[in-house]
Amino acid sequence: MIVSAMPGPFGAIVEDIDLSLPQSDDSLRALIAALHEHQILAIRGQRLTDADYVAFGHQWGDPLMFHLPSHRKDDFPEMIRITNAAATPDRYRDGAKFWHQDSSYEAVPASVTMLYGAETPDEGGETLIASTALAYDALDDGMKARIDGLTGLHCLGGSPALPGEKIPFIPENTARHGIVSHPLVMRHPVTGRKALYLSGSAFGAEGLDVDEGRALINQLRAHCTQPEFVTRYKVETGDIFLWDNFQVLHSATPIDYSDEPGKRRLLYRISTKGTPALCGRADLAA
Ligand SMILES: [Fe+2]
Repeated sequence: MIVSAMPGPFGAIVEDIDLSLPQSDDSLRALIAALHEHQILAIRGQRLTDADYVAFGHQWGDPLMFHLPSHRKDDFPEMIRITNAAATPDRYRDGAKFWHQDSSYEAVPASVTMLYGAETPDEGGETLIASTALAYDALDDGMKARIDGLTGLHCLGGSPALPGEKIPFIPENTARHGIVSHPLVMRHPVTGRKALYLSGSAFGAEGLDVDEGRALINQLRAHCTQPEFVTRYKVETGDIFLWDNFQVLHSATPIDYSDEPGKRRLLYRISTKGTPALCGRADLAA
């Protein structure tokens, strides 16, 4: 396994590993440690069956079942289909084109998300990733003291939008999930590293009035998504691209909706909750 830096402020590229073959615990531990260190990993050159990919996904935690059944793969419901098919209804187009952390509107949010590139376009379809860990580190001591210990309030689609963002807000889904709370500064469950947890669902914080809470969330989301904290990566065919939701925000970029060769895109997403089985309590940082 060869790990090298990805262009940009953070992230790593992993080569010379074949995930269609059984991996030793040491090999998997090295991958998990690399993700926790680099926050995003692109594992290149894979040719996986659905069963291989789902088995790999289970190494990172408990795969979640996405809230839209139409997006799940029938025989492997852990796999969520992401396509730019021309028949995609308007309401599902560019649905991830805003800064967020996956499933943050749930009481137990996603820890790791991965995308497997089954078919990718010649151009376009990049993913933007912003490090909330680097962004936290860069805050001044006054801001850290203000926000350490605050509890963020979340609901699906709840965050104030940044310029150019359109955060999907679907009243019935928002009502179904209700309001959940997460620490605004979250310690990583395995490494203990601090990072901001905002997603596209934070709309305030306990103990702050509504306007103050919204202004704080807006300020912190704008801070995290400055270019110095952002890496761009285009998932290519055969990549498994993983991100650590406890250390990064992500956003899709616009893509053409087309069935033409060279323009089609088919990715399979798996998101997990909890920590990898290989990360026992002995691995937890104090
Ligand atoms: Fe997402």
